[in-house]
Amino acid sequence: MLYPFFRSILFKLDPEYANKIIVKALRFISGTFLERLTYQTLPLRPVSCMGLNFPNALGLAAGLDKNAEYINVFNAMGFGFIEVGTVTPLPQSGNSKPRIFRLLEVEGIINRMGFNNYGVDYLVENLKKTSFKGILGVNIGKNTNTPIEDSKKDYLICMEKVYSYADYIAINISSPNTPKLRTIQYNEALDNLLSAVKSKQKELQQIYFKYVPVVVKIAPDFSIKELTKVASSLIYHNIDGVIATNTTLDRTLVTSIKYAEEKGGLSGRPLQLRSTEIIRCLSHALRGKLPIIGVGGIDSIISVREKIAAGATLVQIYSGLIYKGPKLVKDIITNL
Ligand SMILES: Cc1cc2nc3c(=O)[nH]c(=O)nc-3n(C[C@H](O)[C@H](O)[C@H](O)COP(=O)(O)O)c2cc1C
Repeated sequence: MLYPFFRSILFKLDPEYANKIIVKALRFISGTFLERLTYQTLPLRPVSCMGLNFPNALGLAAGLDKNAEYINVFNAMGFGFIEVGTVTPLPQSGNSKPRIFRLLEVEGIINRMGFNNYGVDYLVENLKKTSFKGILGVNIGKNTNTPIEDSKKDYLICMEKVYSYADYIAINISSPNTPKLRTIQYNEALDNLLSAVKSKQKELQQIYFKYVPVVVKIAPDFSIKELTKVASSLIYHNIDGVIATNTTLDRTLVTSIKYAEEKGGLSGRPLQLRSTEIIRCLSHALRGKLPIIGVGGIDSIISVREKIAAGATLVQIYSGLIYKGPKLVKDIITNL
């Protein structure tokens, strides 16, 4: 209820600083009597997917809690699952600031963060401390300084370290802000990575007596032919799920809007249609063989229903939460 008031203040600040302030404030009050102000009691809307039981189909997308520091804050909002990361083997500071831009008129965001995070060991320490019992995804990536030919090593290091704490692991090969990362989405590079990831999953399953599904997060900037090839690889390697989509490089829908020319990935309302189209084509190509987690521009229950109608089983939000606040979570889950 209070979000529109806070938003008017927060939107006067630098976007990255505003995000930091709000989650820090929420974490500060969590565990105190003020927590009741943030806690949203929502109906159960259970969904089974990848062998996991989700209390509802709406999750927090990767990037907002990169180091797993605010899990309780997002849990209090009512999310059915939380995806932390992207985390890399070593800490890195990401690109220089400013690196987040609000496209206010169209409720979009352009970011070029570049996987700023404190490294996988720090994230794991936070996971050891958390009392969170819900579904937790850990999104993993490669360090910027790791040559692209060696990226497999980075994903496997992160997998090993997070495996026993995660309910699912998301392989991020679609951020536009790490040079050449998206090239891993194609041909042999993709097959090599997926095959290594599946062997590692098998090995870790035997060590921990626990099967942790592995999902792959893809970009929205594919042609239908390319997308069909990706879908075949995902099926061939028995990947457990796919997250569609990350941010887009396309600026067609935001020409002449302030900040549209900034480098980085575009998310929010201008991504909505494109990501839904990708989900639709992907769903056709996958023929129900693996589930889709739909993300991109969700800002209402209608946009959730469009993603589900296109083939998504679960959905996630990021930019919608920034523009609409926790009430969006409530509105969506209540009407699911
Ligand atoms: C500031 C910002 C940082 C992000 N960081 C990550 C990230 O670290 N890893 C990732 O997989 N996606 C990241 N994303 C992409 C989101 O998870 C999501 O896929 C994308 O924003 C589309 O959803 P939305 O339109 O609801 O924001 C980031 C998005 C934004 C806006």
